[in-house]
Amino acid sequence: MVKPDAVRRGLVGEVVGRFERKGLRIEAMVLRRMDGELADQHYAEHLTKPFYPPLREFMTGGELVAMILVGDNAIAVVRAMCGATDGRKADPGTIRGDFSLSNRENLIHASDSVESAKREIALWFPGHG
Ligand code: CMP
Repeated sequence: MVKPDAVRRGLVGEVVGRFERKGLRIEAMVLRRMDGELADQHYAEHLTKPFYPPLREFMTGGELVAMILVGDNAIAVVRAMCGATDGRKADPGTIRGDFSLSNRENLIHASDSVESAKREIALWFPGHG
């Protein structure tokens, strides 16, 4: 998911282009807003965390791009390309390492397992599969 900070900054092409050039295939893609209810479902595991209220405000504050990327070992590959959650700590060469100085506004969200990918795909692309 290309987060609202990346959309606002005009970085959609940069981010999506990196995945395409890597060889991942875009199977589905949508530009839309996340409302509070979808945010609570998407980030269910973080609902009680202290950082969740500002995260929710940030994620519902603008358009984002959700997509399904397909390819060999896609989850691990995409996560490696994103870099560490905190853009200040992410390695140069990663998306967050190159473009983010924040722990929250970190440009991108990537599913962390096959199970979470399935859950998130069902939320964002209900007709898929
Ligand atoms: P994401 O991969 O979307 O998963 C949860 C999000 O919460 C994370 O990226 C960040 O945007 C945000 N986040 C995680 N940890 C913190 C934190 N300590 N402070 C602020 N935001 C955080």
